[in-house]
Amino acid sequence: MAATDLKTEILRLKQERNAVILAHSYQRPEIQDIADFVGDSLALARYAQETQCDVIVFCGVHFMAETACILNPTRTVLLPDMDAACSLEASCPAEELAAYLEANKEKNYYVVAYVNCSIGVKALADVIVTSGNAQRIIETAPTDRPILFVPDQNLGAWTAQRTGREMTMWNGACHVHQRFTRDQVLTLKEQYPDAKVVCHPECQEVIRLMADHICSTEKMIPYCRESEARQFIIVTESGILHRLRKLVPGKEFIPVAADKCSCAECEYMKLNTMEKLRNCLRDMSPEVKVPEALRLRAAVPLERMLELSR
Ligand code: 13P
Ligand code: SF4
Repeated sequence: MAATDLKTEILRLKQERNAVILAHSYQRPEIQDIADFVGDSLALARYAQETQCDVIVFCGVHFMAETACILNPTRTVLLPDMDAACSLEASCPAEELAAYLEANKEKNYYVVAYVNCSIGVKALADVIVTSGNAQRIIETAPTDRPILFVPDQNLGAWTAQRTGREMTMWNGACHVHQRFTRDQVLTLKEQYPDAKVVCHPECQEVIRLMADHICSTEKMIPYCRESEARQFIIVTESGILHRLRKLVPGKEFIPVAADKCSCAECEYMKLNTMEKLRNCLRDMSPEVKVPEALRLRAAVPLERMLELSR
């Protein structure tokens, strides 16, 4: 089917189903372009919580669609490809976290979970954070309890540095952000000496130390727009490049390593395609469903986060 026909069919089905299409900043350009809303995890969670549409088509990865289910349980949530997972989520199985908390009961940890985790982990957490609000949320954490930060040790370390709060880190990381190296960034800095380096907090410290700005995908847009610089070396998943070029025209965005290989791509994010988006709206499947008892427990720390970051 021609691309324009596919687009027309998606728009027709969307109207028929009274659906809204949400897309994360790492989605394929054509999916971002057809979406009603594109954003980072925080903005998408807020949008999902408030939408009045009957159906939410979540073009992102599984934990994001699951978060939409938790926050807006009366909607049908579709995920174009059910295999769209996340290596950070996989690095912290709920049973392992439960066993760790049981073995360390006397510590009475205040559990802070990065939103990139399963519903089972969210249900064990005291509060959820995203890359867009981690600092603000940690600043409100009780000072009489030690913090356990799961699952991303890089976001955790960055937040600990910014807040001065000591934390025990879970040993998790995102495989995409772990792959960026100091040499890759240094080579680009030599090639583009006036460029600012912008990285995601999921990057390792060696990269964060070279960055002019560290932030969530959403906050990269105003930073690049408002900066006097004309060139930016972007150290995160390459899908954000499409958003940056569209929303901040006239400036140059340089991806790390994307010209040599596809290592700046999250293969899970890229599982969603226009065909699968059409199919899920046509078939009303795959649908993300969550057990109600678990949902009620996971909703508490998620709603706490949304309240604290309002
Ligand atoms: P953002 O919330 O900053 O968009 O990040 C989500 C993510 O999965 C980063 O790898
Ligand atoms: Fe998960 Fe990393 Fe992909 Fe983000 S880029 S969805 S953290 S695997």
